[in-house]
Amino acid sequence: MTHWSARSWREKPIQQQPNYTDKAQLQQVEQQLKTFPPLVFAEEIRSLRAQLSKVSQGHGFLLQGGDCAESFADFNAPKIRDTFKVILQMAIVMTFAGSCPVTKVARMAGQYAKPRSSDEETIDGISLPSYRGDIINGSDFTELARVPDPQRMLQAYHHSAATLNLLRAFAQGGLADLHKVHKWNMSFVAANPLKEKYLEVAEQIQSALKFMEVVGITAQTNATIHETQLFTSHEALLLPYEEALTRTDTLTGLPYDCSAHMVWIGERTRQLDHAHVEFMRGIHNPIGVKIGPTTTPDQLIALLDVLNPHNEPGRMTLITRMGADKLAQAMPALVRRVKAEGRHVVWSSDPMHGNTVKAENGLKTRNFDAIHQELRQFFAVHQAEGTYPGGVHLEMTGEDVTECTGGAYQISEQDLTQRYRTQCDPRLNADQVLELAFLVADSLREARQGRG
Ligand code: PEP
Ligand code: CO
Repeated sequence: MTHWSARSWREKPIQQQPNYTDKAQLQQVEQQLKTFPPLVFAEEIRSLRAQLSKVSQGHGFLLQGGDCAESFADFNAPKIRDTFKVILQMAIVMTFAGSCPVTKVARMAGQYAKPRSSDEETIDGISLPSYRGDIINGSDFTELARVPDPQRMLQAYHHSAATLNLLRAFAQGGLADLHKVHKWNMSFVAANPLKEKYLEVAEQIQSALKFMEVVGITAQTNATIHETQLFTSHEALLLPYEEALTRTDTLTGLPYDCSAHMVWIGERTRQLDHAHVEFMRGIHNPIGVKIGPTTTPDQLIALLDVLNPHNEPGRMTLITRMGADKLAQAMPALVRRVKAEGRHVVWSSDPMHGNTVKAENGLKTRNFDAIHQELRQFFAVHQAEGTYPGGVHLEMTGEDVTECTGGAYQISEQDLTQRYRTQCDPRLNADQVLELAFLVADSLREARQGRG
């Protein structure tokens, strides 16, 4: 393998990048970013890697979720708090169902760059460069907004730093108290039209918490009752930014991308001999790769060879995004091959990106049942192949948006326009995503039977 450096990706072909016209300004921003403090520390990154190593061996579960794209305009404390809350609410249900620790990784504090299916967007006969995420250009449909601006990288850094600061405060400052989180779940269940379905699990958690209290395990005696750990992640798409935040850890002498704990490569940028794979192979973070339905077992193994040549557990998370109608056909061969070769991976299901459809009114949407069906099939394939379904990856928000159809409140295509606020892909709202957590609880319990 040839020499790697944080900038060796520049020698390779690259997809999905903006074309900055002012190169001098771009360089100046990169230089500035290189002097900024890292957003996360190598020791934290190693701690996530250790947890994912356990998950890959069947001890634990990965819950990853957040916006499709964060936005500068929609940057405020209630929004961050509500998404944080709903991640914790889901985690408690999954921890209980799986009787295992749940590793929480937010798609937050840096999820600002988006791959697009087309370089241009056309509305009423006018074509402009596509919106590529707030770190690159603006979403308004004007010529000016769509010009890629390097200064946006600095803004993204500061927004990420402020988001992370609040998340750390929430995680340790009492908002994550298990009793509090469960109380929120109880009110979710009580108000839900399908409450009978969820009441049993909610009541079981209630008794477990009561029992712990009786035997003296309380927030006062045990920090894990009132604190939690939340990691951050985003798609490492805009490589000048990721390169500038890549730092050599003084303790180990190894390079880490300190823009987030975990970063992933998207389905559209995982070409073996291209820039994104080149960049990712050298950093020591745990990394994800999105795997679509056209991926072949040979391609997958070739990627693992490059990205994890020593087959270290905890390094690789394979995030499958197949589509409910394609998963059963596309996934077994991949799972079988990875198992046959003894590769250590976390298998995680992204049931969102293979199930995007256009509603009659032209809005992008996803149906709750399709999402649920992809998840069920993901568990079923692992059950059949004797492998471990290690996680889920969701596009979700704590807000009461109407972007995905279905769920207990039966959001219809006509309802979508009421609160359709996403910058990019449609997200599950707080009710829908909690419902999903309760629904997958059974699959998770089954999958974990007999594991430690
Ligand atoms: C995403 O996660 O928002 C995304 C673009 O996914 P994928 O790479 O799987 O299309
Ligand atoms: Co998306």
